[in-house]
Amino acid sequence: MNNPDASRHTEGRAVVVTGGASGIGKAIAEAFASNGDRVAVLDRSGGAGTIAVDVSDEASVKAAFTEARTQLGSIDILVNSAGLLTESRLEDMSLSMWNETIAVDLTGVFLCCREVVGEMRQQKWGRIINIASQLAIKGGTGLSHYSAAKAGVVGLTKALALESAADNVLVNSIAPGPIETPLVDGISEEWKAAKRAGLPLLRFGQAAEVAPTALLLASDPGGNLYVGQTLGPNSGDVMP
Ligand SMILES: NC(=O)c1ccc[n+]([C@@H]2O[C@H](COP(=O)([O-])OP(=O)(O)OC[C@H]3O[C@@H](n4cnc5c(N)ncnc54)[C@H](O)[C@@H]3O)[C@@H](O)[C@H]2O)c1
Repeated sequence: MNNPDASRHTEGRAVVVTGGASGIGKAIAEAFASNGDRVAVLDRSGGAGTIAVDVSDEASVKAAFTEARTQLGSIDILVNSAGLLTESRLEDMSLSMWNETIAVDLTGVFLCCREVVGEMRQQKWGRIINIASQLAIKGGTGLSHYSAAKAGVVGLTKALALESAADNVLVNSIAPGPIETPLVDGISEEWKAAKRAGLPLLRFGQAAEVAPTALLLASDPGGNLYVGQTLGPNSGDVMP
């Protein structure tokens, strides 16, 4: 049976959100909390109630999940939203810039998924939601490292979904378009204005407009048939 204990999985669930101190992760953490779930925020930038982590560091990830379990018990839902964005054309990119992006945006997702997937399979219920990017699909100038990392997240999501679905652990990704968060603060206003004008919706999204997609993927039964999918709240920028 796909849904052995429905009541347990609609509210009061234990949720971990990486990168939950800012932007999309913060909006997702707030949405789960409003739903009546119990949420632990893991982030590199601290703050009251935040569990400190560097998702690219194996020991740091282990310690943070140990602390999250102390607070929440076993974990039902993991949202991987921690990420960073730097820019350089490939011909000028240093190896350290490349490695940093792969380490945080891709290896970080691997390390955090590995912390929870065995436990979720044992409890026969789990949801993992990875925040990728539409640049996984379309690429971006000056963003070869970021586009490669996010395409890696989409591939990882599909492979882990295949490994886990039979145990009712559903793994999916969200590939947002441009969203107004601190991540895009550094980009010039000129570029943003031109980008907005080219979007079918003529505007960037807000983080709160991405969060309901995460709630949908985590919902039971609403999310039960999504396996290895990539959902695109993206103002119409990409139509796969
Ligand atoms: N904003 C966009 O337009 C957009 C579009 C598509 C995808 N995304 C993705 O959405 C996710 C969230 O981005 P955002 O826009 O909310 O950015 P944000 O900068 O507001 O939030 C990212 C969070 O990740 C944390 N973080 C960074 N490196 C970390 C590390 N090594 N360990 C732990 N935490 C770390 C930061 O401290 C921050 O709180 C990212 O994965 C990003 O790539 C963003």
